[in-house]
Amino acid sequence: MNEVELQKVKEKALENHIPIIMDDTLEVIGKYLEELKPKKILEIGTAVGYSAMQFSKYLQDGGRIDTIEREQDRYEEAKVNIKNCEVEDKINLLYGDAVEILPTLNDNYDMVFIDAAKGKYPFFLEQALRMINVGGLIIADNILYKGYVLSDYNKHKQRTAVTHLRQYIADISVNETLETKILEVGDGLAISKKIK
Ligand SMILES: C[S@@+](CC[C@H](N)C(=O)[O-])C[C@H]1O[C@@H](n2cnc3c(N)ncnc32)[C@H](O)[C@@H]1O
Repeated sequence: MNEVELQKVKEKALENHIPIIMDDTLEVIGKYLEELKPKKILEIGTAVGYSAMQFSKYLQDGGRIDTIEREQDRYEEAKVNIKNCEVEDKINLLYGDAVEILPTLNDNYDMVFIDAAKGKYPFFLEQALRMINVGGLIIADNILYKGYVLSDYNKHKQRTAVTHLRQYIADISVNETLETKILEVGDGLAISKKIK
């Protein structure tokens, strides 16, 4: 990994208001990944590849990250970034809508990171559950969405997203194959471990 280039990717993304993973969120996920030592990771929402490249540091030798992005400009930029940071052998970029791509995947993953359209989180969970290994982690970012998810104020324009995020929390909470923690780090992080 070329750390100097990775730092440039971060700075450019922040300058251009591309929503990349927050430092404190990355620190928490990093601790989990250190212990998990994943072989395969699936990420939904690549943006310009920053989080995927950060996660790639924790992969076992020969491990791989599949990551999905639907905006062509971001996908193209991620491709260049991954090359410049010298991690092409670890990251497999998939271009298209995750709603269409996920049902075509049939791999098993040690972590699924959900960081894309909030209105689709329940669907992404359903797909993640199909592919996550026992002992693996399904992590969803932005789950508390600026506090809207826990507030009873329902008249804001983001209420569809909020309804789906609440549904996601309900789904992980009742699922007996998962052990879940919701952390107030960043914009809210749901960490669900597949226990059986
Ligand atoms: C928050 S950003 C991802 C940030 C990235 N994980 C990081 O931390 O560096 C969310 C990305 O998901 C993409 N996205 C949203 N909905 C998607 C979908 N249904 N399929 C694929 N990509 C999607 C957006 O275009 C955007 O680039």
